[in-house]
Amino acid sequence: MKRYLDSNWKDSMRIRVDVNNMMSDAVGARGLSIEEINSLPISGAVAAMHSKREQMKWRELPHNQEEIVAKIEECAKHIQEDFDSFVVLGIGGSALGPIAVHQALSHPKYNELPSFMRKTPKLYVEDNIDPERMEALLDVIDVERTMFNVVTKSGGTSETMSQLLIVTDLLHRELGDDISTNLIATTDKEKGNLVKIAKIENLTTFIVPDGVGGRFSELCPVGLLAAAVCGIDIRELLFGAAYMDEICSNDDVWENPAYILASMQVASMKKGCNIHVMMPYADSLKYISDWYAQLWAESLGKHYDNNGKEIYAGQTPVKALGVTDQHSQVQLYTEGPFDKVITFIGVDQYRTETTIPDGYLDIKDVSFLCGHTQNELIKAEQSATAYAVMKSGHLSNTITLPKVNAFTIGQLLYMFEVMTAFAGELLGLNTFDQPGVEEGKNATYALLGKPGYDQKRMELESAPKAKDEYII
Ligand code: PA5
Repeated sequence: MKRYLDSNWKDSMRIRVDVNNMMSDAVGARGLSIEEINSLPISGAVAAMHSKREQMKWRELPHNQEEIVAKIEECAKHIQEDFDSFVVLGIGGSALGPIAVHQALSHPKYNELPSFMRKTPKLYVEDNIDPERMEALLDVIDVERTMFNVVTKSGGTSETMSQLLIVTDLLHRELGDDISTNLIATTDKEKGNLVKIAKIENLTTFIVPDGVGGRFSELCPVGLLAAAVCGIDIRELLFGAAYMDEICSNDDVWENPAYILASMQVASMKKGCNIHVMMPYADSLKYISDWYAQLWAESLGKHYDNNGKEIYAGQTPVKALGVTDQHSQVQLYTEGPFDKVITFIGVDQYRTETTIPDGYLDIKDVSFLCGHTQNELIKAEQSATAYAVMKSGHLSNTITLPKVNAFTIGQLLYMFEVMTAFAGELLGLNTFDQPGVEEGKNATYALLGKPGYDQKRMELESAPKAKDEYII
């Protein structure tokens, strides 16, 4: 029996959220009070989460993908058998989830492992168009032994399309007319250009379901195929998300981890905390912070609320890593301005234990470490930093994963998604659009001469010219 079907195991893997250090009881005057939380428009937000659930199609991904998961697993098996490398071409929500889940659940040195240990293809997620990076990729892959997966929900993102053009040209030169053996498309079922190209090239195509926006798409084929290719148990990932969905169905904000985290972030924003630091104490969770940064920034960074009123909302996400950034940023977090909330993410049981051996016993300032484990050390440093931040009067909270596995990562991703949607409701804005990104996309189209963007090009040309005296 799969472990995620055992309710005792599931409950032992439930992630925990501790918000003590957000409260004035712990941190003093700058902390939150129960009254401040209760004064938020919580009942309206809870009602909206119910009434809009139908539109939030990403909420059903843990429940409605049986058929697609089987298709993904079959495709992944074929890729594992016949290819050395799997390359994802995509950006933003089409790349950050695959990177985060891979880093969390695969071997930390996955690509460098010898193939007899790795057993599954190397993974590359190409989420930039730096020309040096593309050339470097081509230096390390054997194109014939590489499966490419081009991922774009809109099917029109210039960065991804430029990568696709380079790769299809290369594949046609190496393989001839039929490149469907080495290229997969993941996109909307009918919108955009990728679906047209997929038809021309007869590509295996995975669909990004309607109502699942880029940054909410990790638990659909966008993320699941890459994870499955790397040998990650995608069913367990989805079961973890489903488990969190159940936990997040509680309407009592104090019993619902996603709702309480969202409420406290929104209450803290009202007190000037415009920065949210995400600081996992595990290398495996480092890129969860990148994924979260997009989710939080792009969803809540909005000029207008739902009534068209200017609000300039949002909270700047900052990525940090424990303990590395204790030696870089924590000075600022304890003694700097009261403009941030820090979320520590801890792990009860790391996947390995490393004992610090005896040595230099005469040097007491070194030898006090001997006999302890690095596990003890990293946890002590996490607690000590949380204590120092709390003592300095700054706000923080802690999320703890009993272990890092597909089940807990599924929970974590889903909890952050619900938290973001709930925060959007509390702020009264549209969590799921990104007009600010669209503006930049349109300007790029105009600069590169895309048909239909003449007016935008004229607008850009009439923008104030850079003054020489300010260019030093
Ligand atoms: O969250 C979003 O919708 C965006 O960040 C997109 O993920 C990003 O712009 C890439 O878009 P697409 O997947 O359409 O290429």
